[in-house]
Amino acid sequence: MYSIAIDGPSGSGKSSLAKLLAKELGYIHVDTGAIYRTIGLYARKNDIDPHDEKTLSEHFDNIHIKVDWIDGNQHIFLDDDDVSTEIRTPEISMYASNVSALPKVREFLLEMQRDFARKKDVIMDGRDIGTVVLPNADVKIFLKADDEKRAMRRYLELKEKGQDVEYEKVYEELILRDKNDSTRKTAPCVPAQDSVILDNSDINLEETLEKALEIVNAKLGAER
Ligand code: DC
Repeated sequence: MYSIAIDGPSGSGKSSLAKLLAKELGYIHVDTGAIYRTIGLYARKNDIDPHDEKTLSEHFDNIHIKVDWIDGNQHIFLDDDDVSTEIRTPEISMYASNVSALPKVREFLLEMQRDFARKKDVIMDGRDIGTVVLPNADVKIFLKADDEKRAMRRYLELKEKGQDVEYEKVYEELILRDKNDSTRKTAPCVPAQDSVILDNSDINLEETLEKALEIVNAKLGAER
């Protein structure tokens, strides 16, 4: 089995890149942020403070998350509900960032994430894939981009989905979430020592894909 880890802050384009790369290589794409978002959604729906590790962990037995792929796209289910769209709001982004700082939540999700890589060739994107989830990944890419570029991408993405958002708010929230995700004690969003840093501030998605393929080819060569 081959595994490729793509980590980086929000709006760096991890999921878009991972999706294209997975298509190109014939691997499955696992967007781990969606799993944390689903826990965030669960907390929101059940009126649980996303910082309250004790209460949330008491609910773990009732949190049934399933991931499936339909036409190559990842869908995520909470119980039997497909929540793939519902988890993509700014409110749930903050919930996800807060629940993801709780060590028990990370522990709860660890094996589930590793399991995907045991069964299939995967491209997994998140914050700690190269450092914690798949420390032996064959290829590790850390994607980054300037704050303003990332905020603008996120803003346009939300607008396109018909959400009523302001650029300034999106920017502020992105910076807050970055700080949360990169300074937390457990599994902070930092590049793995053996990762290749790819800055896509000034290149588009196609060019990012080209560069990522160069990195993959250099590591895996004809093997893959
Ligand atoms: O990638 P995303 O923006 O959908 O992720 C939502 C939140 O989940 C993010 O703010 C931090 C958390 N997360 C994490 O802690 N570890 C991961 N591997 C993926 C996401």
